[in-house]
Amino acid sequence: MRLAIPKERRAHERRVAATPETVKKFIALGFDVTVEAGAGLASRITDEDYRNAGASVVDDPASLLGQADVVLKVQRPLLAGEGELDELSLMKRDALLVAILSPYADAKAVEAYAKAGVTSMALEFVPRITRAQSMDVLSSQSNLAGYRAVLEAINVYDRAMPMMMTAAGTVAPARVMVLGAGVAGLQAIATARRLGAIVSATDVRPASKEQVESLGGKFIMVESEETKQAETAGGYAKEMSDDYKRRQAELVAETLKKQDIAICTALIPGRKAPTLINDEMVYSMRPGSVIVDLAAEQGGNCTLTKPGEVVEVNGVTIIGLFNIPSRISADASALYAKNLLNYLTPLVDTASKQLAINWQDEIVAATTLTRAGEVVHPNFKAPSAT
Ligand code: NAI
Repeated sequence: MRLAIPKERRAHERRVAATPETVKKFIALGFDVTVEAGAGLASRITDEDYRNAGASVVDDPASLLGQADVVLKVQRPLLAGEGELDELSLMKRDALLVAILSPYADAKAVEAYAKAGVTSMALEFVPRITRAQSMDVLSSQSNLAGYRAVLEAINVYDRAMPMMMTAAGTVAPARVMVLGAGVAGLQAIATARRLGAIVSATDVRPASKEQVESLGGKFIMVESEETKQAETAGGYAKEMSDDYKRRQAELVAETLKKQDIAICTALIPGRKAPTLINDEMVYSMRPGSVIVDLAAEQGGNCTLTKPGEVVEVNGVTIIGLFNIPSRISADASALYAKNLLNYLTPLVDTASKQLAINWQDEIVAATTLTRAGEVVHPNFKAPSAT
């Protein structure tokens, strides 16, 4: 079984899909591991580190991908016209591709994987069940993103976070509001608290109240009959009614004008991110305030976010940078690589050292997008085929 780790070629991507630690484990499982030269450099892993772990290192992506039975990536492969290389066209038919494939961002790519005969597995669809916790890339990456979001805010914030009582006077603590108290939001709360900020947070899932409070944050939310059903069986939020959104907007407006920093993390899987901060609310914040919009890639929680950019509006800095986990690449890669190893290990028969995939397995079924030339995931099959 040949396993390939290509260099990530999409813009701003500094992560890599394997570390020397996971390379060793893959070799023990029976894989021959080949890494593209330079693949780990932006995560502080040298070619020599990979070689020492037992991998081969090659320069040519065509031979790397052309021989691989399994291709592990961070982001989806480049298709024709998307960059320097058509990575998908270099892959063998029947190769297994495992990555964060973002199929909602580009459903046409799913068709392309099917056409190329590639078996594609989207790691972000790993279900939130106990057995899959160690494979959960959304959690591992969101956790780091939540932490880093606070640091991004501090970096441009002209004031201090903790209260400081000095002979020259008292510095007031920063007030931080976290919108969306899932994995990223909870880590943002913990990080801001550690730095001495006064933290409040909101969510539509009542279950998050206890988690916010256990981290020392103040939980605020619009309570209604609707919030009792706001959480899906998978633990995700649903889109709320217009009436709820209006009441939530009043609460956010009231709270936000007293805040220095807002960290936005609210997402609804497969949809545009909910709008939680409108233009007027931004204008109500005092100059020097900062908004970090982790939902920028899904359209943003703030109406004035410019996806992929940092902008200043009326003295308020709005950070809409993409791919925040990549800005903490060494740790993000280490955790991501472990998620991949944990995902792939049960797909290998240790006695024969061959892939032995149980297609009925709940985790495999939830993540497989294409197989044997067909789109098999129910969310992406053509309407006529469903
Ligand atoms: P996410 O990234 O999809 O969304 C982030 C947060 O935004 C969520 O807490 C969501 O409720 C909130 N949100 C959505 N719409 C909102 C709105 N209009 N206003 C305010 N907040 C809004 O979610 P994430 O962080 O991936 O976590 C989802 C759930 O999965 C949580 O319940 C989490 O505890 C659970 N989870 C379970 C795991 C397991 O059992 N293995 C592992 C990780 C998370």
